[in-house]
Amino acid sequence: MTEANHKRGLWATRMGFIMAASGSAVGLGNVWKFPYIVGENGGGAFVLVYLVCIAVVGLPIMLAEFTIGRKTSLNPVGAFHQLKPNTPWVGIGFMGVLAGFLILSFYGVVGGWTLAYVVKSLTHTIDHFANPGEAGKFFGGFIGNTGEVVFYHAVFMGLTIAIVIKGVHGGIEKACDILMPTLVVMLVILMVRALTLDGAMEGLRFYLYPDFSKLSGQSVLLAMGQAFFSLSLGMGAMITYGSYLPAKENLTSATLYVVLFDTLIALLMGLVIFPAVFAMGLEPTEGPGLVFSVLPAVFTGMPMGWIASIIFFILLAIAALTSAISLLEVVVAYFIDQKGWGRQKAVLVMGLVIFALGIPSGLSFGLLADARLFGMTFFDHVDNISSNYLLPIGGMLTAIFVAWVWGTREAHREIERHETTFHWAAYWEFVIRYIAPVAVAIVFLAKIFPDS
Ligand code: PFF
Repeated sequence: MTEANHKRGLWATRMGFIMAASGSAVGLGNVWKFPYIVGENGGGAFVLVYLVCIAVVGLPIMLAEFTIGRKTSLNPVGAFHQLKPNTPWVGIGFMGVLAGFLILSFYGVVGGWTLAYVVKSLTHTIDHFANPGEAGKFFGGFIGNTGEVVFYHAVFMGLTIAIVIKGVHGGIEKACDILMPTLVVMLVILMVRALTLDGAMEGLRFYLYPDFSKLSGQSVLLAMGQAFFSLSLGMGAMITYGSYLPAKENLTSATLYVVLFDTLIALLMGLVIFPAVFAMGLEPTEGPGLVFSVLPAVFTGMPMGWIASIIFFILLAIAALTSAISLLEVVVAYFIDQKGWGRQKAVLVMGLVIFALGIPSGLSFGLLADARLFGMTFFDHVDNISSNYLLPIGGMLTAIFVAWVWGTREAHREIERHETTFHWAAYWEFVIRYIAPVAVAIVFLAKIFPDS
């Protein structure tokens, strides 16, 4: 181990790394966003397109990010600089750090909502709604309450800071080791609960039977964007996590595990939500409020609903926290490697700045709801700039960089560094060169020209 690596720390175990990377991937994107966009985009056919996007864009770019990370043992800025010194490619790294910074500011707000709903479940505040309308009204009131929203945002960011401050050995890895398997167990329990409700089969049909007449061009693009966000790609999170990998790690199998795990959680989430939604006679097209406003109503009518609701919101908070950890780690690794800051200083200073930037996002549903620019709130703008612009551009440029600038031959050599055989090399080289960059370019252009 080099001196530098010693200071940065390495993953202690292979499983620890896979759990930590999965912890980054599995988050609000899978648990909260995936079901509602599947619901809004017609169900089964959308799920199928999403799976194709995972295979042809997500998988190759994730391996590319892990490879860059392990090769350089650096944060995204340092990594691109090392591979092609003094070229504009280092800009991908800066964009990534900026994206991490911006995404975490609003992610922390929604993470705070999940913590609040854990507390509200425990205190029996959200388990007596007569119908989803009432639950929705309650949710609207809650996210408009400045004091509560800022308080829970602060608690969520405090937890994120506390874990990241301990570094990859003590903090991130240990947390994810315990949290991720717990998450799977909780989801399976909830799935069994949902599938045994009267009327659940109709939900299964909506979710699993592909009706292609419900698919539009726009929903194909949404599926692609979701694949990106869900797998934590396009901003160097996986470069950063890969940078803590020992040389003997098999990158290709780690990539497959993380992609499969993330996809499994999203698919399981659908098996929890849709049977429940249909059993309650609700609409799957509820939108972003699905989890927070509809589920409490669903739980109210269920035997043991109180327990189910507690389990569910704990699970959502855990998933959000392990993703927030990776977002903060990208920013922190940059200040440690490039600016020479100590970990503690980097985590505390950046954590607090991101918390402060999140406050106007948190108030965007209350005090600042009317403070709009181009019709969008502060929250909408930060989300839009980071998720819809920085991630797709970053992912596309990373693919182009690895395929055409650094070169697949160099990358291939890094992947096979420790006598591991890269079984799907031909597939990877083809998709990273031709399919992934073009596909992401289409998503990005569609975001700029949504109606054309
Ligand atoms: N993948 C996370 C989710 O699905 O919630 C969000 C995320 C985390 C995006 C880390 C990007 C990132 F770098």
